[in-house]
Amino acid sequence: MRKPIIAGNWKMNLLPGEGAALIAALKDKVAGAKCDVVVCVPFVDLCAAVEAAAGSNIRVGAQNMHWEKSGAFTGEVSAEMLKAVGAQYVVLGHSERRQYFAETDETVNKKVLSAVKNGLTPIICVGESLAQRESGETDGLVSAQTVKALSGLAGEQVKDVIIAYEPIWAIGTGKTATDAQANETIGVIRAAIAGVYGKEVADATRIQYGGSMNAKNCEGLMAQAEIDGGLIGGASLKAEDFSIIVAAATATVQ
Ligand code: PGA
Repeated sequence: MRKPIIAGNWKMNLLPGEGAALIAALKDKVAGAKCDVVVCVPFVDLCAAVEAAAGSNIRVGAQNMHWEKSGAFTGEVSAEMLKAVGAQYVVLGHSERRQYFAETDETVNKKVLSAVKNGLTPIICVGESLAQRESGETDGLVSAQTVKALSGLAGEQVKDVIIAYEPIWAIGTGKTATDAQANETIGVIRAAIAGVYGKEVADATRIQYGGSMNAKNCEGLMAQAEIDGGLIGGASLKAEDFSIIVAAATATVQ
């Protein structure tokens, strides 16, 4: 059985104090969770978030990083820096970064390798646009994005990364993929991993769904066999909604 993982992606929201208050409100609500619970926060919120989450089952992550250890990369943050302030996860290759900040499969791969080398768990985002879905490119695209992102990792390392399938047309739009669509495409991603690393590795790798997942639709999504959790944007900014999603993931654990 794969342990579900629910991760919040706060995006560019919440000041450090606001983030700490959200985590404080979340702590008791998710204390009994049987899934992993993560909040991925803006860089400047990391310290306050780690402090607020201390002693709880909530883990903290970042939303991006640079692949180099240090150097002349103005405005960038390394894996080592994230580790030093207590981050344990990092979202990589989110579609907003691919779209607005020229992130490519190649840079995502470099970041994945650096994250793993430094003991951070990457949450690697893949997903198609509406035009790509409508022209039948989804399966090939998400498979290629996944295989390229993981290139250079050993099978044992692949088991510990998280993949987030996020159809771009479902992010922030209120338009969720149907349970069956999400399950099917995540199955395709798992098959792509199996094609390179074998079935045992693919069966052990956790793959989340992301894109307008919320307190109302989480139960149906979490009930799908291939879906191992969620990457939650908008609904992660409200303690009540996020904890309902954590509860839906917990309910799937025997
Ligand atoms: P959303 O964002 O839940 O607001 O659609 C998800 C994401 O972009 O990770």
